[in-house]
Amino acid sequence: MDDYRRANQALWDEYTGINAASPLYELEKFKAGAIKLHPLERAELEGEVGGKDLLHLQCHFGMDTLSWARLGARVTGVDFSPKAIALARSLSEELSIPARFVCCDLYDLERHLEGAFDIVFTSYGVLAWLPDLRGWAELVARYLRPGGTFYIAEIHPAGMIFSEKVTEPEWRVGYDYFKDGVAVYQDEGNYADPAAKVENNTSYEWMHSLGTVVSELTRAGLCIDYLHEHPFTVYRQFPFLERREDTHWYLPEGMLRVPLLFSLRAVKGRGKSGEE
Ligand SMILES: C[S@@+](CC[C@H](N)C(=O)[O-])C[C@H]1O[C@@H](n2cnc3c(N)ncnc32)[C@H](O)[C@@H]1O
Repeated sequence: MDDYRRANQALWDEYTGINAASPLYELEKFKAGAIKLHPLERAELEGEVGGKDLLHLQCHFGMDTLSWARLGARVTGVDFSPKAIALARSLSEELSIPARFVCCDLYDLERHLEGAFDIVFTSYGVLAWLPDLRGWAELVARYLRPGGTFYIAEIHPAGMIFSEKVTEPEWRVGYDYFKDGVAVYQDEGNYADPAAKVENNTSYEWMHSLGTVVSELTRAGLCIDYLHEHPFTVYRQFPFLERREDTHWYLPEGMLRVPLLFSLRAVKGRGKSGEE
């Protein structure tokens, strides 16, 4: 494993405990039976998961994975953080929700997991940790059965160019949409608990344009059904966002809107050749 991934893994190991204790994740509500998915992916994917084999890439500590299981899917979650996977497995056992969790780097998955799935799912804050979107898209295609569904709900890269270090509701460009190569950050706190003390706080991240996401999935043999863009998000990405009852975070009234999330559904095997 390279130094980038080792540092990111240490950060995510530390984030696991912070996130599990944070109000954003609402672990106790989940333990009491709640489905901890957001209205967006529930509206767009819930109807498809019953009785299906679902692979969740970058599953963190498994609340979303186990929520899909509560909705009827047979689930497998993958993440490279040993702490996150240990918590995911203990939640599966404690709550008697059948699930399989694999602890490995995404790019090593073929050495740890065989088979194919009806649905590959991934969400919110995943792509920035991946240096190689071509390899990621090929992996998605590799694990889908012919006719299977890929679904991603993710932070919109266009929204990621704006600085979060503002005190007034304003858009100030702070990051390069077309940045090549790795970006190194040393953030204070954590997205679920800004006051948290994080020791392993160096992160290595990659910016991927929306065009790259679409092009790499298409190149890997997926046929895109839709690419939706949304003016709300799932965490307090900017200090001026306001949380509404549906749990999503919105811009204050009157502020010019930019896309904060995108969601994309694609199917394997309806590509250029037309094969199913
Ligand atoms: C923001 S979290 C996923 C968010 C998830 N939707 C949630 O909020 O619970 C990103 C996850 O990606 C995982 N991750 C980052 N790089 C990875 C890699 N190279 N291989 C596998 N997992 C990785 C981290 O451990 C972390 O759990």
